[in-house]
Amino acid sequence: MSTRILGIESSCDETAAAVVADGREILSSVVASQMDIHRKYGGVVPELASREHLRQIVPVVREALAQAGLSFSDIDAIGVTQGPGLIGSLLVGMTYGKVLALELGKPLVPVNHLEGHVHAVFLEAHIERHTPELPAVCLIVSGGHTLLYYVEAKPGAGSTLSPSEKGAGSTLSPLEKNAGSTFTLNASSEAWSPRIDDNQASYGFQFRRLGGTRDDAAGEAYDKVARLLALGYPGGPVIDQLATHATASGAAANTEDELHFGPVKIKGNSYDFSFSGIKTAVLYYLRAHPEFNAEIETRREALLQGRRKAADLLPLCSPQVLALISNFQSAVVNDLVTRTLSAASETGARTILVSGGVAANSALRDTFQSKALTKGLNVFFPSRALSTDNAAMIAAAAYSHLQAGDIASNDLNAEPNLRIA
Ligand code: KG4
Ligand code: ZN
Repeated sequence: MSTRILGIESSCDETAAAVVADGREILSSVVASQMDIHRKYGGVVPELASREHLRQIVPVVREALAQAGLSFSDIDAIGVTQGPGLIGSLLVGMTYGKVLALELGKPLVPVNHLEGHVHAVFLEAHIERHTPELPAVCLIVSGGHTLLYYVEAKPGAGSTLSPSEKGAGSTLSPLEKNAGSTFTLNASSEAWSPRIDDNQASYGFQFRRLGGTRDDAAGEAYDKVARLLALGYPGGPVIDQLATHATASGAAANTEDELHFGPVKIKGNSYDFSFSGIKTAVLYYLRAHPEFNAEIETRREALLQGRRKAADLLPLCSPQVLALISNFQSAVVNDLVTRTLSAASETGARTILVSGGVAANSALRDTFQSKALTKGLNVFFPSRALSTDNAAMIAAAAYSHLQAGDIASNDLNAEPNLRIA
């Protein structure tokens, strides 16, 4: 009988729930996006986000169960994002998860959102019938994060170690580990025991932080540049498509009066990132070129009328602006790829994992694929749906913790600055 985990994610502006069996079979995945609410502010407004999570959490969880064809009593455990994220948003998912766990008598498993993004890559690899080889270098790149980790399997993963060799904690069932807490486990939870199978992600990972952004996250830079140019929110998907068009039409190559970005210079740790300089260069360029104001105003009006697709905005962009977009994207993508590849070669990792909203970017995917190939490295991405925030990745990460007996007591709190290393 498989272990079915209900995952709940509410760390930012997506209310999500999913059911995943044995940490890798997605039975359902429901995401309620708040994009329409935050769009007019050009970014996530924390107070509005928490209120919307409150409205969405119950229907989203019910829908995830309905799509999986399950009821609450069929669930073996509840995995919930503990952090990092917006405190008000995290508290909604966490409180609901706690109440469900108490009411149903099921284990509650706290999950680090970033670890969830790593599991998203493994969920996708499982669908594609691949297994990423560890150790790996993992780039988590989204609207809130740009982080580089060295990822190894937790000791015992994929090996034939006995439960006692895997550490004292893992020999305890959730019932034993949870003794003294107020959780009472029902019959199906009592039957739970750690399983040894070929799913290395089910044992979890251990992380070493190699670097991270010192200022803006890459997705944040996309969103801010999109705001400066009136390209809508979120900026990433539209810039991605417009840049592709600029490259295909040769707009970038043929324009003389364009902004070229040099490589980002970082003092100290060469695995750190910095994107605020690129964003500021765009700002100064636009200030120095007031001739772009008219087209920016035209696009702003189009956005107000709901014409926000790349196909709507493309005819409203001059070749110079398309060139600017394309060069901005190349600068961000090249920086992400170069630092990640050098981290892989210096740590001896054979595999690169890329996850988070910006992992959906087509230029990032293409550049990683072609450059990694020349170095004999394998690159793994989640699908676009699994790249952005979702609860399937939370349920998958929860499975590895459940295997290890990492169950929360009911005084668990949300941690807005939670780290994985
Ligand atoms: O992971 P995510 O859904 O939420 C956060 O945790 O931030 O990522 C959202 C971010 C936004 O900044 C959005 O502009 C960016 O991911 N994004 C993209 C693309 N799709 C989403 N950036 C570049 N290219 C894309 N195709
Ligand atoms: Zn995320």
